[in-house]
Parts: sequence; C-alpha cells; structure tokens
Amino acid sequence: MPRRVTQTPQAEPGAPDLGLDLSEVGRVVGEIDPHGNLIAVLQHVQAHYGYLPEPVVDEIARLSGVPASRIYGIVTFYAQFSTEPSGRHKVFVCHGTACHVAGAPRITEALEQELGVPDGGTTPDMSFTLDSVACMGACSQAPVMRIDADTFGNLTPDSTRKFIVDVLSELGLSAADLRADGGVPDGGEPDGGVPNAAAPDSAATGAAAAAGDTGAEPVHTRKDGSHE
Ligand code: FES
Repeated sequence: MPRRVTQTPQAEPGAPDLGLDLSEVGRVVGEIDPHGNLIAVLQHVQAHYGYLPEPVVDEIARLSGVPASRIYGIVTFYAQFSTEPSGRHKVFVCHGTACHVAGAPRITEALEQELGVPDGGTTPDMSFTLDSVACMGACSQAPVMRIDADTFGNLTPDSTRKFIVDVLSELGLSAADLRADGGVPDGGEPDGGVPNAAAPDSAATGAAAAAGDTGAEPVHTRKDGSHE
C-alpha cells in the first residue's frame, strides 16, 4: 500500500512578482552572510520569488559583493535552483536506480497524463511543475515521488493518479483546469510549452504530517544527478 514516506520543508508558496520588489533580497542578505552561506541565501530568496531571475541574482551580487558569476556558478550547478519560473506546486519523481527498476518511468508517465505536461514541464496555469530527480534516499520505498513537502513511496501508476486527483481536489482544481490553456489529453503528445509568467498562489496542498519520516531529502543535488 503506498504511503507517505516523509515530509520536508516547503518553499513559501507564491508566484514570483514580475514587478520584482527586491526588498526581500535585502532582508535575506541582511540575515544570512552570503560569503559564509551563499546556498542558504539562494534557498531563502528562491523560496520567496519562486525562482532566481536575473534581477534577483544581480541584487544579491550588488548587496553582498559576491560576483554574479560566482552566484550563477552555484545556481547552474545545483538542481534545486532555477532561473526559470516554475509551478507553485512541485511534483518530483525519483529516477534513481532503485526507483527506476521499481517502475519510476511508469509513475512519470501517469503524472504526465494526469497533469498534461511532459517531464520537466509546467502546467499552463503555473499550478504544477513535474520533474525527475536523483535518489531521494528512500530506496526501500521505491518507487518514490514528492509533492511539495510530502514524499510518497511504494507507488503504482494507479495510486499515483489517485494522489494527484486528491491534491487537485484539495486545491479545488481538476485536470481539465490544468489543461484549460493548453497541454495534452491523456495519451496525447505533450506540447512542452511553459509560460513565462506566474499567477499568485491561491491554495496550499493541505497535506497532513508525514508518517515514517526517513529523513530522505537530498540536500544538494547537482544538475548532473550526483549529490554533494
Ligand atoms: S532510488 Fe529512489 S529513493 Fe533511492
């Protein structure tokens, strides 16, 4: 029976303000020393804006004196950082070896069909981003996926679909809502389109506390899939 494996800290929901009030950058840089813990600065700033657009990176560089080139070096190195807007809710499927063998490709396929986006894509309404990640450290529960703060294990395609339907229900959405502006029907070819803007967040998943916390969250996953 699939079950929730663990719960991890969730990024503050909310769409990036494309008007970009950069005051949050100043607050974070004032609280965390960018020279001592630049990754933490980037994590907090990204949690606020949803991603790390150029004006935000430039503001971090300006306020901290850390060269923008060094900041971009970190942003592009670690998978947790993105310079592109993503969905307000993140769905990550583990494609580590254990999960791959246990059927991760079928889990991703089920999610692609339910959300109407290809792996790596974002729904047109910016509600969800679907992505593959390396080992989450919960191999005994393979295959595993994470929806925002909650990690679920022992998945099947059917249970995965049910989880997504439940999450959509909690958000007051349906699969049809996600596809209102595009996407693909079940079994169709994904269009891969990702809008270059985001809408304000309106709801949280409301997921309950985790059961059987394994402490499985990979802290820093490089974009090549390896871990720090
Ligand atoms: S391979 Fe998926 S949790 Fe380890």
